[in-house]
Order: sequence, then C-alpha cells, then structure tokens
Amino acid sequence: MKRIGVLTSGGDSPGMNAAVRAVVRKAIFHDIEVYGIYHGYEGLIKGDIKKLELGSVGDIIQRGGTMLFSARCPEFKTEDGQLKGIEQLKKHGIEGLVVIGGDGSYMGAKALTERGFPCVGVPGTIDNDIPGTEFTIGFDTAINTVINAIDRIRDTATSHKRTYVIEVMGRDAGDIALWAGLAGGAESILIPESIGDNDIDDVVARLQRGQERGKKHSIIVVAEGIGNAVEFGKKLEQLTGYETRVSVLGYIQRGGSPTVADRVLASRLGAYAVSLLLEGKGGRAVGIERNQLVDYDIIEALTQKKHTLDQSMITLAEELSI
Ligand code: F6P
Repeated sequence: MKRIGVLTSGGDSPGMNAAVRAVVRKAIFHDIEVYGIYHGYEGLIKGDIKKLELGSVGDIIQRGGTMLFSARCPEFKTEDGQLKGIEQLKKHGIEGLVVIGGDGSYMGAKALTERGFPCVGVPGTIDNDIPGTEFTIGFDTAINTVINAIDRIRDTATSHKRTYVIEVMGRDAGDIALWAGLAGGAESILIPESIGDNDIDDVVARLQRGQERGKKHSIIVVAEGIGNAVEFGKKLEQLTGYETRVSVLGYIQRGGSPTVADRVLASRLGAYAVSLLLEGKGGRAVGIERNQLVDYDIIEALTQKKHTLDQSMITLAEELSI
C-alpha cells in the first residue's frame, strides 16, 4: 500500500484532530502518502480530497472539532453514493481508508468494505456507544465538560435550595449521564439502559428522603435518550413541590480542547489503524479493551456486537446516591 486516505464523519468529537495527526504522521513515517478527504463522505463523493504533509497536521493535537470538517451524509447510504465514493478513491490512487467517527460513519466504512475497498474504523464520538471498544475518542473530554457544568450548577442549586435536572447528550446511550452523574454526585441518574428504573415516582421518593434528612438541593442527570428533560422537570416540580430548574447542556459537550486521555487514545488508535492497513488488513475496526489495542471485523462488529454499559457502575451510582 502506497497511498491511504483519512476522513472524519458524523458528529465531531474532541480528539478527532489528534487521531488525524496520528494517521498522517504514522503513515508518512512508513513512507506512505496520505490524502485528507474533507467534509466526510459528502466530500468523498464530490472529490474534496487533498494531499496531507507532516506540517498539515501541526498545531492541531490540542484543538477540538476536526480540521478535515465533518458532515452527516444521507447520500452515502445509497448504492449510487457509495460507488461515486469508490470512484473518487480510485481516481486519487488511494488504496486504503481510515474512517474516524461514530456508528453512522462505521456504516459507511462497512459499506465500502463490503464493496471490496479496505477501510479501518476508528471510534470517534462523545457518546461512547461503539461496540468493541471500552472508550471512544471524545468521551473523556465530554464527561469532563459535563462535570464542570454540574459542579457550577450545584453551587446555584445549593445557594437557592433548588432541584436541578441536567440533560446531557449521548443519543441512545447513557454513558455520558452515568459517568458524569456518578462523578458529580447526582441524586438520580436516568439512562435508557435502565429504562425500568427511570420511574419518576422513584426519583420523587429519593428526593423526599433526602429532604427529610435535611438536604436542600438535588441534582438529577438525565440522558437525552430518556426523553424530554423539560417536561420531566415540570412534572417533578408538581409532584415534589420543590423549586426545580432544567438545564440542557447541548453542544458545549461536543467541542473544546481534548483531555490528555483523549489525545493519547486518539494517537494510539489512529496509528494502529495505519498499522493494520500496512499489514494489508482492511474491513477492521480498532478499539481499546483493558488498555490494550484491539481490532475486529467491522461488519461483525456492527451486526453482532452490542455496546453495553457496565451494570456494576449503574448499581454503584444507585448505592452511593442513597
Ligand atoms: O453523536 C454525537 C451527538 O452529539 C449525540 O450525542 C447527539 O444526539 C447528536 O450527536 C446530535 O446530532 P447533530 O450533530 O446532528 O445535531
């Protein structure tokens, strides 16, 4: 393999730049040329492709977002879109592709792989919802951003003796809510994975027990996958009679300078993806398990593996917020 491509796709996440840098530097170190595909699969279809040099990825390891830009591209779900993409890759002499992104991006990489074009998927999303890896690039930064917000909101909650409902991102996954809720000492954490336990009456009972013990404020972290936090907050206020406010954290969770953990993870995974392509291995997805780099069949990963949350952490959060 003499020339590879790299693209970022789907929602941006902090550390994507560090991963792009790792791909470019690792490849050039091994005398492989690297082409950047701009604006994800949309740019691939249009042929928005330029050669990247060592200097192209200088001064980006500390930056959030992605220097290659990103897009959500419905056209790439079609056969026509995928064939156009492969045509562009061939036109530019690209023999292998590193795709950095979340589950939608993996679907694109899977489709290319099924059409015989070698791709390696690198998990980049704040949601931490990719099967086959304990952590995705951007998750650590996002939960640190959330914890910062929770700590600040707690100051106001204490000062005003209020209940705060804080909605966090994660799409259908509760990882951000669980980790940040546990680290932020939340009284209740509502996540899609424990749907049976997300009963508002339980939350009310928990808040009332707290008030009886003299507690004056409470923090409830709600994953966006649960439903409308604003409605939940209104109902909670009606049922408890406690002054309640809702804060939807939104896109502040997606940006910002990546943490050390995300920069290191991105560097390791990006470089590992290149190693696999150099070994002639395509159709793989890389990940981290027990701090070891792993790779697995991308098609199998998407069809057979499932992202799961560590049940013991859910139990722990419940035990500690008694
Ligand atoms: O996948 C990352 C994420 O931020 C999710 O947490 C959220 O549900 C979604 O993207 C928002 O998507 P969009 O960027 O299209 O608004």
